[in-house]
Amino acid sequence: MPWEPIKLNSGYDIPSIGFGTWKTGKGQGPVDQIKQAMNNGFNHIDTAQNYGNEIETGIALKESGLPRSDVFVTTKYSRVNNLDVPTSIKNSVNNLGVSYVDLYLIHSPRWVAPDIPTCWAQMEKVQEDGLAKSIGISNFSVQDMELLMASAKVKPAVNQILLHPYVYQRQKPILEYAAKNGIVIEAYSALIPITKLPGGPLDKPLNEIAAKFGATPEQVLMAWTKAKGAVVVTGSSKEMRLRSYLAAGDIALSPEDIAVIDAAGALGRGEMNVKTILRRVVVWLL
Ligand SMILES: NC(=O)c1ccc[n+]([C@@H]2O[C@H](COP(=O)([O-])OP(=O)(O)OC[C@H]3O[C@@H](n4cnc5c(N)ncnc54)[C@H](OP(=O)(O)O)[C@@H]3O)[C@@H](O)[C@H]2O)c1
Repeated sequence: MPWEPIKLNSGYDIPSIGFGTWKTGKGQGPVDQIKQAMNNGFNHIDTAQNYGNEIETGIALKESGLPRSDVFVTTKYSRVNNLDVPTSIKNSVNNLGVSYVDLYLIHSPRWVAPDIPTCWAQMEKVQEDGLAKSIGISNFSVQDMELLMASAKVKPAVNQILLHPYVYQRQKPILEYAAKNGIVIEAYSALIPITKLPGGPLDKPLNEIAAKFGATPEQVLMAWTKAKGAVVVTGSSKEMRLRSYLAAGDIALSPEDIAVIDAAGALGRGEMNVKTILRRVVVWLL
């Protein structure tokens, strides 16, 4: 299936679709869900210190029976318990039962300490020490990236951000800055227009384009995200959905399809929603 790997500026390849463990919980649930994803063809697992399921992720990796080199493992520094980067990465690789992660991200600029340049220097040391093949960032704005780049010896390999058509216009400067600097974008929560914000201007074009391809609207959102050059980080507890996500790699949207989705996304839904809620609160208060 043409979810082709993407070359990172570190020289390593990243599989262009990944399974995220954020919503899998703790205990046996994540072990089963991660193994289900791997059994269905996912070879890229995205976890984080603050998802609290690195140990379960490690169990699933081991029980999958796949050689370590066949799976791309990402985790993130989330400053849990105020721990620093050197301590956190050691805990993370121990929890995961691996000697290195493929990608280590600063989860958010909100969680750096004491500041972005110092935290990034610690990330560079993680890579130098061989605990991460590639290092990157998540939820960084253009301003955050500029600050990081001013003192960086190693450029971030990726910036993992919220990306779907309703936020595309807002996030576009980040995509443009990343493209100019050889930073790959990873998109999370690409399905929000369907899962959290149905009933907006995207519904009609997504349904029409889906019908044209004999696909689902989720698959069209995945194909749109792929067309923007981003790695998709997604998830599902359901085998059918996992298969449909992987099959979405075969959908080649036309420039017209993409333009229609961009235009509907630009009409907004999230903002409209917040405004609508605020308006309702004001009306209710009066
Ligand atoms: N770096 C960050 O700050 C950050 C933030 C958020 C997420 N992430 C990463 O991205 C991963 C994915 O995030 P996400 O879950 O928000 O991604 P997503 O791809 O937008 O959503 C996946 C979820 O959508 C549900 N879903 C799919 N199709 C649906 C439909 N037709 N109707 C209703 N629900 C549907 C699935 O539920 P079912 O289980 O029912 O199929 C699944 O829980 C996370 O696990 C995490 O690794 C990172």
